Amino acid sequence: MVELVDDVYQCDVLVIGGGGAGARAAIEARKHNVEVLLVVKGLFGRSGCTVMAEGGYNAAFGFVDPEDTPELHFEDTVIGGRFLNNQKLVEILVRDAPKRVLELESFGATFDRIEPEKFDQRYFGGQRFRRTVHRGDRTGHEMMNALKEEAYRLGIEVLEEVAITRLLTNEGIITGATGLDLIHGRFLLFKAKAVVLATGGAGRLYSITTNPYQKTGDGYALAYNAGAELIDMEMVQFHPTGMVYPPSASGLLVTEAVRGEGGKLYNSLGERFMARYDPERMELSTRDVVTRAIFREITEGRGTEHGGVYLDLTHVPDEIIEQKLGTMLKQFLDVGVDIRREPMEVSPSAHHFMGGVRTREDCRSTVIPNLFACGEVNGGVHGANRLGGNSLAETQVFGAIAGENAAKEAKRHGYAKVDYKTLEEEHERIFRFEAGEGLLPYEVRSQLQRVMWEKVGIMRSRQSLEEALRTIAMLRSKLEEVTVESGLRYNLQLLAAVELDNMLLVAEMIARSALLRTESRGAHFRSDYPEEDPRWVKNIVVSKAADGMLVRTVEPVITTLVP
Ligand code: FUM
Repeated sequence: MVELVDDVYQCDVLVIGGGGAGARAAIEARKHNVEVLLVVKGLFGRSGCTVMAEGGYNAAFGFVDPEDTPELHFEDTVIGGRFLNNQKLVEILVRDAPKRVLELESFGATFDRIEPEKFDQRYFGGQRFRRTVHRGDRTGHEMMNALKEEAYRLGIEVLEEVAITRLLTNEGIITGATGLDLIHGRFLLFKAKAVVLATGGAGRLYSITTNPYQKTGDGYALAYNAGAELIDMEMVQFHPTGMVYPPSASGLLVTEAVRGEGGKLYNSLGERFMARYDPERMELSTRDVVTRAIFREITEGRGTEHGGVYLDLTHVPDEIIEQKLGTMLKQFLDVGVDIRREPMEVSPSAHHFMGGVRTREDCRSTVIPNLFACGEVNGGVHGANRLGGNSLAETQVFGAIAGENAAKEAKRHGYAKVDYKTLEEEHERIFRFEAGEGLLPYEVRSQLQRVMWEKVGIMRSRQSLEEALRTIAMLRSKLEEVTVESGLRYNLQLLAAVELDNMLLVAEMIARSALLRTESRGAHFRSDYPEEDPRWVKNIVVSKAADGMLVRTVEPVITTLVP
């Protein structure tokens, strides 16, 4: 074994992913007195989605709207998710979200207030009340700084710039993982008693996305290859408002808080078009509805010069924009647009995966007893459509649960034996890419991103999904031709090749699940089945079978709210 790897790390709980959920899981596990190792593909506190999250964190305190309650938060979440949510998980989300945000303040974060003891809360789409706690429009940044401080205060060991390539299993149990250390150029073996996956989503599967570079779906691929089940993979959320112009900023998030603070959407004819799609909620409809509305306006020829629609704040007082939307103001000033005086141009951008690892209420995989998942890599909380603001809450609520239960699991047993053969296979897989100047992984990746955007995107059909599956298979064969630079140190080409393998697998999961769902629901819109079908109140589960990918339906977990 020693000759295959450059170093071996041993810990009770291995947390993979250093965003909000991973950090929170590591903190909770450490509080339960176990050795925790946090491995991050980028830089801790600087990479991933949480640090970029802008608009806020949903918690039904009722500080601004006293009528609000966790029960109403539950209803909005399940109705927004079109009844595919695991309602047990939603109950936990709405119950724990308030206490976890208070705890963030104990770690050092501060959120905007209306009174010393009361947070300010803003409107977000699909919610009947002002529920979203925030720090201006850089809420995630505030959270991440505090989580990082707390993790270091607790003495948690962190490895940065290490990409986990495989979860190692032996007789159905995770024994550890392998990783590529890009800073020191090492192939690593991690031995662990329990593993928490907190790797986030896969927005980079699409050519236009709000997500940072790291979001290549690694956790979905790791879990699948280890034998776990994944749920709702067809449910990919497109945020209604990403930047359109200049091209270098394409897809960059324009927070929903803009609409929460009164932003209005117009097409090039000057029509406030949401009146046609959701006259009651208008711009504060759920994301699936607003996204499709914008998409229709653009494809039917009522878009702007640069292919978007207008999002206008010019009627909102300057001081509100300056105080509450400071990041947006700067982001647009940087490209020459003063949003106090002129509208923004926006269009949809791939944003969030509602699907992910299928888990129980304790965040444990339904199949692998010492594998836990939290945050975006986990599935089931949001159903067919996530409400803005529920994701930051999810990171903290389920991060804490995953960390606690992983620690308890680690205390129950010793290290399981690493299977040498699996390690050898993984070594071979990683080092199979030859050094050379042949096909670069980036070329295959951009073809994949294009086909996902065009054929497995906001609108899908049987034809487009079958075409996509053929292209994905063709691109998989091209992966064999990919060559990379030699050596491991800072070998970003090798990293891109490994990520591409994951992306191709996740793309197939999405397309196969989307093909099976012959209806339209939430974020999944089939032009050949444009209506929601009551017979399809079902989840789709993906798992690895001896003869390939198994895709099947299961009944959703319903506790109180019946469709
Ligand atoms: O629009 C936003 O600020 C994004 C929030 C979210 O996805 O929860």
